[in-house]
Amino acid sequence: MKQEALDRLFDSLTDREKLAEMTQLVTSLLTGREDMATTGGSLEASLLRSDLDSVGTTLNCFGAAESRRVQDEHLAANPHKIPLLFMADVIHGYRTVFPIPLAMGCSFDCEAARESAEIAARECSAAGVQLTFSPMADLVRDPRWGRVMESTGEDPWLNGKMAAAMVRGYQGGDYEKTGVIGPGHVAACIKHFAAYGASEAGRDYNTVDLSEGMLREYYLPAYLAAVRAGVCMAMTSFNTVDRVPATVNRPLLRGILREENGFDGVVITDYGALYETLAHGACADKREAAKKAIEAGVDIEMMSTCILEHGEELMREDDGIRQAVDEAVRRILALKNKLGLFENPYKDADEEREKALLLCPAHREAARRIAGESIVLLKNENHALPLREGMKIGIAGPFARSRSVLGSWALAGTDGVSLLEGLREAWPQAELRTAMDGELGSLFDGVTDVEDKIDEACAALADCDVILAAVGENQNDTGECSSKTDLRLTKNQRRMVKRLCALGRPVVLVVFSGRPLEIRGEAEQCAAVVQAWFLGTESGTALADVLTGRVNPSGRLAMSFPQTVGQIPVYYNRMNTGRPRLTNGQADRFITRFIDCPNEPLYPFGYGLSYTKFTYSGLRVERSGDGWQVCVTVRSEEGPEGTETVQLYIRDCAASRVRPLQELRGVQRVRLLPGEEREVRFTLTEDDLAFWNGEAFAAEPGGFLAMAGGSSDKLLTAPFSL
Ligand code: BGC
Repeated sequence: MKQEALDRLFDSLTDREKLAEMTQLVTSLLTGREDMATTGGSLEASLLRSDLDSVGTTLNCFGAAESRRVQDEHLAANPHKIPLLFMADVIHGYRTVFPIPLAMGCSFDCEAARESAEIAARECSAAGVQLTFSPMADLVRDPRWGRVMESTGEDPWLNGKMAAAMVRGYQGGDYEKTGVIGPGHVAACIKHFAAYGASEAGRDYNTVDLSEGMLREYYLPAYLAAVRAGVCMAMTSFNTVDRVPATVNRPLLRGILREENGFDGVVITDYGALYETLAHGACADKREAAKKAIEAGVDIEMMSTCILEHGEELMREDDGIRQAVDEAVRRILALKNKLGLFENPYKDADEEREKALLLCPAHREAARRIAGESIVLLKNENHALPLREGMKIGIAGPFARSRSVLGSWALAGTDGVSLLEGLREAWPQAELRTAMDGELGSLFDGVTDVEDKIDEACAALADCDVILAAVGENQNDTGECSSKTDLRLTKNQRRMVKRLCALGRPVVLVVFSGRPLEIRGEAEQCAAVVQAWFLGTESGTALADVLTGRVNPSGRLAMSFPQTVGQIPVYYNRMNTGRPRLTNGQADRFITRFIDCPNEPLYPFGYGLSYTKFTYSGLRVERSGDGWQVCVTVRSEEGPEGTETVQLYIRDCAASRVRPLQELRGVQRVRLLPGEEREVRFTLTEDDLAFWNGEAFAAEPGGFLAMAGGSSDKLLTAPFSL
């Protein structure tokens, strides 16, 4: 629609209609057709039919037929024929489900993230979704928090690259040039702004309290990378930032997001988050909540109605509020226009398209390939893996046959391929035997363990050549509001692993989880450890690819694995403290450490093995133009063709603010033939050395280190200076 027509439309709206345009409700509330699916409290408001007909956006409508019907009904009742905008959580795929984002982070492959987002957009747009509440760019350090599975990990640089790639995948590569979300694409929403990942003790929705430097250097960069990639929408977070709930936080939303970083898209609250500011004790009543949200720069209130109920009165009293409401409504209409909804309110919703695209072979093939890249091999003693054809293989544990491997937030997904099914497909002739394979229920259903069938399992698998222990946590115990304090495997799973190891056969631990679990004891006992996360539709096939050696593992941890829960938070980009060691020759009594556990995580960020041994040499830093070239040679020393994830880190040795020991600044995935050697080059600029000095991002002159290698704990080092 042309701007003049859009302006005329805007001018024809009453105040009440503008406020309804700023309100988002679940589709079932609008149609009254189904039970309302909620993740928050119930709506405490009595809404007029005319309000429902004027509501601007809706969430959780799935399927082309239903979304077209809802749109038709809406257009018939809406006095201005303004189309409804359909939003949903399409977090890691639609019907074809990709690995959970934390696993995707472990691929260190932004192109894979882009491709998976593009496929998700193609599928969900055919099913009537026009905007996805993704990517989630919350930096995460605390695996007790269930939502770490939605993030791409603990590193701001990698999270930023991943988020930007996903935005481009959803919105289409042309969007930044044309400003149009084309066919097969959807608008994206960066969330949860801001710092939701820093919830105290990993308890969901809990208080966040960060210094400005921590906020700006660690927590904000990934959201802002998505803003630079043109993301259309931003969602506020449930938590407080500097003791003000993010949803009514004016310095955060209007200040940092809009004014400092030029975000001109739509800001939406999280689910019911505005009403929750009353419980926070930040607003006395709904009227105050509405006022503060409008002033802070909120455009859409999701699943509460403070703005709708009190906005008219506020607009009458205060011209500033009237102006802010007008700007918000213009932004919402502009978003609908970018999606082409005024010309085609159904966008890509089409039953035929849906049938042709959902779970089509090409999408499944991509899901399998990307799942394969997301698997992380953590231990492989005596070449326990890959398995060899003809082996008698035992598979024990709750994930041997489980198809509940999509991971949380796979709202439109169906079953995934189980580990057993994947192995059967890879080696139809192989002797595969399962034991103690009853599924592990959810803590939400009061299930705390699997049934003990350890004696039977040991008897059944005693003569196997190798045993896969397929263990983990129920997928429903990960994701939103799934915080845990005990990250160990359940007691019966731990006992099962121990007894299987005592059989004297090599045991391969295959861990299905939405977070780094505490697996130190089991990892010590087993010959090999494979982190399988929740890999989506093609979980079993992708795992079989890696276990049988058809795919050489290349995943690297995007989040550190703790030795024990007591170490948390444990992350690679930490500061040194004044006492990393004592320099006066005294015993290491008074240094920064635990007396019952090492400081180092069990497995650090960037760590992951391959069936190939890669070696590094010849790291050098050269001045080039305004920046530097960092060169390092990587060689495939032993083993099959494989992909090595070459990582570049920097350290600022002394500065006016204490700097982390390591900060990731470059990643290159390099495919090498046996014996092949390649020089890998990275470019560093002054921006890569900058940090928040209290007023701005700037680099300070002095000494730096460049570090390169295949894991954050095993790097070559070369000095350079600015
Ligand atoms: C979650 C968001 C999600 C929203 C809509 C909330 O509970 O925090 O991540 O996008 O619900 O489903």
